[in-house]
Amino acid sequence: MHLLLLTLSLLSLSTNAHNITEILSPFPEYSLCNSYLSQTKLDGEINSRETVTVLVLNNAAMSSLAAKHPLSVIKNALSLHILLDYYDGAKLHQISDGTTTSTTLYQTTGNAPGNLGSVNITDLKGGKVGFGSAVPGSALGSFYTKEVKKMPYSISVIEISNPIIAPGILTAPASSANITAMLEKAGCKTFAALLRSTGVEKVFETAADKALTVFAPSDEAFKAAGVPDLSKLTNAELVALLQYHALPSYSPFGSLKTTKDPISTLATSGAGKFDLTVSTSGDEVTLKTGVGSSRVASTVTDSPPLCVFTVDSLLLPAELFGKAPSPSPVPAPATSPAPVVSTLTPTPATAPSPVFSPPAPPMESPEGSPSEGPSQSEDSKSDKAAADVNTPALFKALLTVSASVVVSVFLS
Ligand SMILES: *[C@@H]1O[C@H](CO)[C@@H](O)[C@H](O)[C@H]1NC(C)=O
Ligand SMILES: *[C@@H]1O[C@H](CO)[C@@H](O)[C@H](O)[C@H]1NC(C)=O
Ligand SMILES: *[C@@H]1O[C@H](CO)[C@@H](O)[C@H](O)[C@H]1NC(C)=O
Repeated sequence: MHLLLLTLSLLSLSTNAHNITEILSPFPEYSLCNSYLSQTKLDGEINSRETVTVLVLNNAAMSSLAAKHPLSVIKNALSLHILLDYYDGAKLHQISDGTTTSTTLYQTTGNAPGNLGSVNITDLKGGKVGFGSAVPGSALGSFYTKEVKKMPYSISVIEISNPIIAPGILTAPASSANITAMLEKAGCKTFAALLRSTGVEKVFETAADKALTVFAPSDEAFKAAGVPDLSKLTNAELVALLQYHALPSYSPFGSLKTTKDPISTLATSGAGKFDLTVSTSGDEVTLKTGVGSSRVASTVTDSPPLCVFTVDSLLLPAELFGKAPSPSPVPAPATSPAPVVSTLTPTPATAPSPVFSPPAPPMESPEGSPSEGPSQSEDSKSDKAAADVNTPALFKALLTVSASVVVSVFLS
């Protein structure tokens, strides 16, 4: 029995081995950095990575960065301090040819063209190691000071002297984001049109001032085989369906990956109603509704307190689509789940509304479409980085397997 528990704990250790908040908590000199990692939810990203190096700043260096910038800018800047590879003090001094670049978490945000999401690490003369943006011509203005914590080859935390600043990374994004315009650009025109025609756009905009995460189905998702005929829904049901595609919280990809409990959506009106569950496999996140599931395909924006993702399929809540795959119209309930219904304006007659046309003929589901997931975009950036990352992961997998084998030998 004890051995069985040992196996279980070894297995869970290998899947979620580190907690950056806990690692930094004994060090008061990094309390500001630690606090910002939590506020930006970068802690979830770090904890969900198999292999990661966190470049931490002491309170003086961190306050120089934090003082004059909004949280969204601080998040971008700190993302550049999270390397998707393992570097401890020894490895920093053994860089072949003395210089290399490492992919960072900023590369995975989709806001980082070219080398913007990578850092240059150079072993300078006299044992000094310099860090800078990998954008050509950038200065190596930050220096390695010491190791804080290492758990080879899972996580390494090292201190550097100053923040690494990539060109343009401190520029704040346009103040109030136009969500529907953003969705149109991201290939979610149908969803954007529905948000406008129902007035749910306003609900999203208001929520986005506090905290909002949107899961926008792509235009292909609306044309997929098996999508219910939305024209059969009442206005109240359509509003609930749209609100089901958003959370009243800021939940970036790393937080989703570590989410265990069911999550409430904007359509939730009581415990357990209109909620979603999350399942994670490697770097892929799938949302489950109880009726179907959908992969989170890409990040459109991650700028606290707003996060917008695209998803491969419509999220069909069990409350509306629980029984039949194609629901028969239900009269609008007296107690509507959505208070905005009363403010609805009728769909303008002139607005072409593709969703209300008869169902499209069955077609191949667009599973093979080259939509780029967050994991893919990150992996494809640098084959070298990918190779470096995979080796420790493989090593760890082997460790897990051998640990289980040893235990089962004991058991028999
Ligand atoms: C990490 O540690 C902090 C502080 O001990 C704790 O509040 C948090 O829940 C932990 N996170 C996870 C994912 O276990
Ligand atoms: C890193 O920066 C230094 C100084 O700008 C440069 O000489 C070197 O080529 C860069 N390294 C890489 C791998 O780009
Ligand atoms: C958002 O963008 C759309 C399309 O570009 C435009 O029609 C609309 O007026 C914008 N909304 C706001 C609030 O700026």
